[in-house]
Amino acid sequence: MQEWFNDFYATIAKTSLSHWLNTLPNQLDYWKKEAQHGEWPQWEKVLKNLPVTKTRHINVTNRVEIGLIEELSEGHQKQLTHLLKRLMPWRKGPFYLHGVHIDTEWRSDWKWDRVLPHISDLNGRQVLDIGCGSGYHLWRMRGEGAQLVVGIDPSDLFLAQFQTIKHYNPDPNVHLLPLGVEQLPELKAFDTVFSMGVLYHRRSPIDFLAQLKAQLRKGGELVLETLVIEGDVNTVLVPTDRYAKMRNVWFIPSCDALTLWLERVGFKNIRVVNKDVTSLDEQRSTEWMQTESLKDFLDPNDLSKTIEGYPAPLRAVFVADA
Ligand SMILES: C[S@@+](CC[C@H](N)C(=O)[O-])C[C@H]1O[C@@H](n2cnc3c(N)ncnc32)[C@H](O)[C@@H]1O
Repeated sequence: MQEWFNDFYATIAKTSLSHWLNTLPNQLDYWKKEAQHGEWPQWEKVLKNLPVTKTRHINVTNRVEIGLIEELSEGHQKQLTHLLKRLMPWRKGPFYLHGVHIDTEWRSDWKWDRVLPHISDLNGRQVLDIGCGSGYHLWRMRGEGAQLVVGIDPSDLFLAQFQTIKHYNPDPNVHLLPLGVEQLPELKAFDTVFSMGVLYHRRSPIDFLAQLKAQLRKGGELVLETLVIEGDVNTVLVPTDRYAKMRNVWFIPSCDALTLWLERVGFKNIRVVNKDVTSLDEQRSTEWMQTESLKDFLDPNDLSKTIEGYPAPLRAVFVADA
C-alpha cells in the first residue's frame, strides 16, 4: 500500500501538482495508522491473494475489460471469482476480468455515455474525479487519453475494489486516494474536475462547489452530475428525513437553482447538457450486490415517486468553465 502512494508522490513531483506533497503524505500516513476501515485487513488479504497474470488485452475505451478467459486456468478463475466476491457489494462498474463479469448494481457505463459527448477532449489532460467510487470512470477517462487521472473517495471498500482492477491493469497514470473532498488543499491545477453523484450528499453544497472550483486551473472544466428536481431558480428539495431510503441526502436543487449556485461561486459558461430519469435497468440488485436497489426505493404503485413520496431520481449533467 505504501508503494501505491509512493508511486503517486513520484508521479506528481515534477508536475503542477507538486505542491500537493506539502499535505498529502501526512494525510495518507494518518489514514494508514488511524483511519482505516475495520475490515481493511481482510480486503488487503484479498488483494495479496489475487492470481497473478500477464495480459496484453486491456480495453478501457468502450468498457473496462482486462485479460482474456483463456489466460487463466480454470482453478485460478474460480479463485478469482471467490476473492472478488469477498469484496462485495460491487456497486459501480461493470468490470470484466479474465472472463469474470462483475455485474455491478449500477451501469456506470450508461452515466459515462451521457457525459462523454458533452465534455472537452480529455486527451493529454490532468483530471480529478471527486467521489469516484470504485474508480470505474477513472479507467474510462484514461481510455479517452487523459494523461494523469486521480480519483478521491473516502470509502475503503472502493479503494480495495479499485486496487483489484489496478492489479490487472497496473497503469502508472491512474490513481485513487482514500480522501474526502474536505481534505483537498486548493490545488488549482487540474484541467478537468469531475464530481458525479456527490453534491446531494454534501451538507454545504455551495462550499462544495467552491472546493471543486479551487482544484481547477483557470479556464479548466467542471463536469458535475447530480440529482435535480423540476422547478424554477428558487426550487430546492431538502428531504425531511430520507430520500429513496438514503439517510445522507441534503439538497436537491432544480437545474436553474444549481446554475445560480455555480454562477455565485464564479463558474462561467454553465450548460445543462443532459437530464435523465434513472431507470430500473440502470440501478438494480445483481449477483454482485444482493441487497435492496432502486425498485425497493420507489413507490410500488407509482414509479414516478420515491417510497417517501418525493419525485423519483432525476439526474442532470452540468458542464462549466472555471
Ligand atoms: C453516489 S456515489 C457516486 C460514485 C461515482 N462518482 C458515480 O458517479 O458513479 C457517491 C460517492 O461519494 C463518495 N463520498 C462520500 N463522502 C465524500 C467526501 N466527503 N468526499 C468525496 N467523496 C465522498 C462516496 O464514498 C461515494 O463513492
